[in-house]
Amino acid sequence: MTFNYQAEQLHAEQCSLERLAQQFGTPLFVYSQQAILRNWQQFAAHWPAPHKLCYAVKANSNLAILQLLARHGAGFDIVSGGELARVLQAGGRAQDVVFSGVGKSHDEIAYALEQGIGCFNVESAAELERINDIAAAHQVIAPVSLRVNPDVDAQTHPYIATGLKANKFGIAMRDAKAVALKGQALKHIHMRGLDCHIGSQILTASPFLDAADRMLALVQELRAEGVAIDHLDMGGGIGIPYQHESQPDIASYLHILQQKAAAVGGLTLLLEPGRAIVGNAGVLLTKVEYLKPGEDKNFLLVDAGMNDLIRPALYQAYHDIVPVRQASGAASALVDVVGPVCETGDFFGHARHLSAQQGDFLAIMNAGAYGFTMASNYNTRPRAAEVLVQGDQATLIREREVLEDLWKGERLLPEERT
Ligand code: LLP
Repeated sequence: MTFNYQAEQLHAEQCSLERLAQQFGTPLFVYSQQAILRNWQQFAAHWPAPHKLCYAVKANSNLAILQLLARHGAGFDIVSGGELARVLQAGGRAQDVVFSGVGKSHDEIAYALEQGIGCFNVESAAELERINDIAAAHQVIAPVSLRVNPDVDAQTHPYIATGLKANKFGIAMRDAKAVALKGQALKHIHMRGLDCHIGSQILTASPFLDAADRMLALVQELRAEGVAIDHLDMGGGIGIPYQHESQPDIASYLHILQQKAAAVGGLTLLLEPGRAIVGNAGVLLTKVEYLKPGEDKNFLLVDAGMNDLIRPALYQAYHDIVPVRQASGAASALVDVVGPVCETGDFFGHARHLSAQQGDFLAIMNAGAYGFTMASNYNTRPRAAEVLVQGDQATLIREREVLEDLWKGERLLPEERT
């Protein structure tokens, strides 16, 4: 266990979280290198070359984390030109990057081509034409895979389900053949493969395996039409336990996928895991500002807000909240843990049993994925600092924002004429 109590103090590896909170201030994201690499190995150990793992940058895009993963052989899945720039800045290679995303702009496509992107995951016939035109202007051939919507129910929160017909993502199954043949005919497109991504925080293998069956059938259909398909990207989406959910069996999912693909033959497989790599490797540390007894409820006001971690507000997501110092002396009470932002939705947990008093630190668990990357400056709050721990070493990997950062680029009006 990466986060555990030693002498009643919660630690990340060998670092006391109380000490980190005191040293770097709160709110503070703390990540464990050991946990990230252990999660990475859970995939890498069962995914022999030529198959590839492309870490989904949107889950946590801190340069140091991208650098760490690049050093361990990661490719990357990106959804914007900005994410590509981050990967390159962190020492990743463009050829190891797949570019997903439903609305790639002209400039993003041009930038990706200039850098030598590994593959575009194309979401529509119109995007295919746009990529072809830009590739022609650059006198290059664009490697392309078609993102198909396999129409399976991922059984997850509706905001993070992406593989149903009703979602905006991907090309409909019934149109895939026509778009693939079009791609085949376009001079500056190299049709490489197919991809899908059915959603996120999925806890059982069956939706993935249903999707794989449908995608493999399509591979065969397209090959019969003369489209050379040599890669299949099954996206990300493997969930983690936040509460009492059971951990999906990653090794067995990866093995079954490979068996299914081997039966069809000639396919390099790709996966785009995000949350499963970083989710449980990070916590958000926060300080108790006030205890506020209410008429119906008791509130524990903390210094982190929904601008730091929006998942509870946006998805009613559950995150465990634990005291950094056990047995602080305070009596256990039933509390709502809420932030300082002026929104009723600014909460981290309802009806939690916690014993804490003013000045105590709490850890909001499983905050490594979609925590900092979804943070904002709402209420003119500087974004938190980030620290990466390795053993007893803690490295500041992002400074806390200062107020001047927040109005950088804003302009006052000229003097008013009298
Ligand atoms: N590939 C594509 C094309 C994606 O859209 C995503 C996530 C991933 C890979 C990585 O999925 P993962 O392995 O992390 O589940 N903000 C939400 C999650 C949104 C996921 C969006 N797409 C949350 O906090 O739960």
